Amino acid sequence: MKGIVFNLLESVVCSQFGEDTWDDILEESQVHGVYTTLGNYPDDELFQIVCAASKILHISPHEVIRFFGQKSIPLMAAAHPEFFSAHNNTRSFILALNTIIHPEVRKLYPGAQVPVFEFDTSSSNKLIITYSSPRKLCAFAQGLIEGTAEYFGETIDLQHLVCMHRGDSNCVLQVVFNTTSANGKEK
Ligand code: HEM
Repeated sequence: MKGIVFNLLESVVCSQFGEDTWDDILEESQVHGVYTTLGNYPDDELFQIVCAASKILHISPHEVIRFFGQKSIPLMAAAHPEFFSAHNNTRSFILALNTIIHPEVRKLYPGAQVPVFEFDTSSSNKLIITYSSPRKLCAFAQGLIEGTAEYFGETIDLQHLVCMHRGDSNCVLQVVFNTTSANGKEK
């Protein structure tokens, strides 16, 4: 896993819970805790930090990773505004992941292992997203999608229909986009 992911997790924890909590989490996880953006670090080290955070924050590892994804989006948007400015809604942004966003990420962070999603676009207000990766980071994908919807000011209904953590061979996320905004007007 690239160091940028660890750096993002540190930023999220420090901004939401404070630097002391990050220090407590590092101590509990027994990792060395220093990550350079472009460095490569074992995936297990991230999972050790997630388990320690789960213990200290009293939320499940799945919820730690999901929360991490949600709160990462504003940081990603600040670091890479060009990925976001090309879109005006969540659906269009998600559909650019395989073709534009993650390929650009691989150029910026050589060696990054990004997932390839399968998209069922047959319905205009619904996306069915199939995800598979040995890292089984579906909670991260879920949080990132939720954070993206918040970024674009949309409400979505996200259902995790099939999940590798329940023994399935891949994960299927169904995202339904609401067509009316908070003031009840059609978007
Ligand atoms: C809704 C939006 C996004 C989703 C659902 C998504 C999903 C994911 C997932 C699930 C992974 C884990 C890798 C794996 O499964 O093996 C990942 C990795 C990553 N993504 Fe994305 N991503 C999104 C947007 C972005 C954006 C906007 C950026 C950059 C600004 C980004 C940068 C990265 C990086 C750096 C990694 C780590 C790769 C590595 O360490 O090897 N992603 N993404």
